Amino acid sequence: MEGFLKEKLQERKEKGLLRVLRDQEDLVDFLSNDYLGLARNEEIFDRINSRVRREGFVGNGGTGSRLLSGNYAAYRKLEDSLAKLFRSESTLVFNSGYVANQGLVSAVAGRGDTILYDELSHVCLKEGAWLSKAESFSFKHNNLQDLEVKTSRATGRIFVITQSVYSMDGDKAPLAEIIRLCKKYEANLIVDEAHSTGTFGEAGSGLLCEKGLEQDVFARVYTFGKGMGVHGACIAGSKSLISYLVNFGRAFIYSTSLPPYSVISIEESFGYLADHVELQAQLKSNIDYFKSRVDSPSSTSIQPIFISGNPEVIKVADDLRKKGLNVLPIVAPTVKEGTERLRLCLHSFNTEDEISSLATNLNHENN
Ligand SMILES: Cc1ncc(COP(=O)(O)O)c(C=O)c1O
Repeated sequence: MEGFLKEKLQERKEKGLLRVLRDQEDLVDFLSNDYLGLARNEEIFDRINSRVRREGFVGNGGTGSRLLSGNYAAYRKLEDSLAKLFRSESTLVFNSGYVANQGLVSAVAGRGDTILYDELSHVCLKEGAWLSKAESFSFKHNNLQDLEVKTSRATGRIFVITQSVYSMDGDKAPLAEIIRLCKKYEANLIVDEAHSTGTFGEAGSGLLCEKGLEQDVFARVYTFGKGMGVHGACIAGSKSLISYLVNFGRAFIYSTSLPPYSVISIEESFGYLADHVELQAQLKSNIDYFKSRVDSPSSTSIQPIFISGNPEVIKVADDLRKKGLNVLPIVAPTVKEGTERLRLCLHSFNTEDEISSLATNLNHENN
């Protein structure tokens, strides 16, 4: 086995694709998913700690699955407040977005059903489809025509999967049109709001709520490790869906619940954002400023700067890092060959000087 492992790693190294864990560097953050700076916000840290002190010792760990010993009071309170925020009948908290997506899709679909997922869907959604034993097909990214052709041929119960904001291109799905199509073919729509939780919608309720489309979606997934700056995720949907997941969602049933501190931190982070909605406006203003300086198709925090070729994009990222700007190169095969890019993340806390320096350097690299 050791020989096999080394050989596979050597193959990656020779292609210049070896992944390594880097220590954090003290550079300007154009990299993290902490879009609103909530992960580094000391007031949230204080709110969490003062609540823990107020409530007394809450325990250090989850102690078991929520169906065993891990369903402590903070969960009920959090899920009730999330249901209000996301305007859903019910919500169910999961340990991460990865587990929520994988657990949801693999539980609701089964043999004889059809899952149609956008080709750029996050791998945890695809894995859910593969685990479900349903027939699964990708459709061309945001392509309603391709989706309609495939939906019209689908058999069994039909599930359509999209993300409100895409992780690598930062573009949005045509949600209203996808909903119309799903209604026409009686398909169940699943929307992953990982990159829009916090950054869109009143008090961070996401893009579907912002557009008033939330009631037309079968299941919505919100994650808390990106814009909300903490950890975990929830699924929002009908009471029957949530009860079904408690009964049939293996990823939910057979895993230790989050530690109480984590559950409390999710509620406190949303509470803080509700009191500081100006952070969304600041983020939007930073995105607008960046777009006034650099030509980019995306209007969200995620900005792709295309630089064709793995060595080429890695070199530009290294150059920017040497100048103190932390950016991430995304290479093939993570993205299609020829679409290698820098995946820039803009934040509410990036200053105009920082964004200006990034823009100047990018424009210089491209000339
Ligand atoms: C679109 C999307 N969904 C789900 C996830 C997984 O969420 P989490 O990081 O909470 O596991 C990610 C993480 O990168 C993502 O980009």
